[in-house]
Amino acid sequence: MKLFIDDANTEQIRRLYDLYPVDGVTTNPSILYKSGRDPKEVLSEIRSIIGNDPLFVQAVPLDAEGMIEDAVAITEAFGRETIVKIPSIPEGFKAMKKLKEMGITTCGTVVYTPMQAYLAAKAGASYVAPYVNRIDNMGYDGIAVTKEIHDILVRNDMDCIVLAASFKNSQQVKELCAYGVGSATAAPDVIDGFVRNAAIDQAVSDFCTDFAKIDGAEKTMKDYLK
Ligand code: G3P
Repeated sequence: MKLFIDDANTEQIRRLYDLYPVDGVTTNPSILYKSGRDPKEVLSEIRSIIGNDPLFVQAVPLDAEGMIEDAVAITEAFGRETIVKIPSIPEGFKAMKKLKEMGITTCGTVVYTPMQAYLAAKAGASYVAPYVNRIDNMGYDGIAVTKEIHDILVRNDMDCIVLAASFKNSQQVKELCAYGVGSATAAPDVIDGFVRNAAIDQAVSDFCTDFAKIDGAEKTMKDYLK
């Protein structure tokens, strides 16, 4: 499963890129608003941090023509490795079909139902993004919906993978990772939560304490091996 950072905070992106094996960055209009910065400026900085890794940027208009114009502007500004998120609504499917012909990679976003994802994949999207936690909040099972979408894509041999999004905890991500969905995007705090565990910290600390007891000094292996 590919793992993306769902954020536009460049300090956090630098930190996570330094520490973890992440694959890219996803954004949406709300995330860009929350960054408090000019969209072009912040997205350019993210592009410079992540190199040629996938960067997801959403088209804002709600009509196909406007979505296509935004998609062209986005890929011209941030490169062909940039994936354009298109809302999975009727005008969005129209835009996805055209963008596929134009060679622009898209992600069908705002996915709440399996058949929305099916239409986006059929329209040429390379990713479909179900909103796990938001589906849960509606009283449905976001994990089950996402697994169903994954099954639809695989069983129909569609050239499209799940980009599971909207997580509130690492357990939700783990369930989809174990199921083998293609990719997931999570906020920095959720990614940090994969390894936030007092037992892990204690075990690591115990190893250091025991090793220091060998001759009463804080040495590492290299001190003994020189
Ligand atoms: O980018 C879409 C998705 O990640 C939204 O997440 O946390 O706003 O539900 P959230």
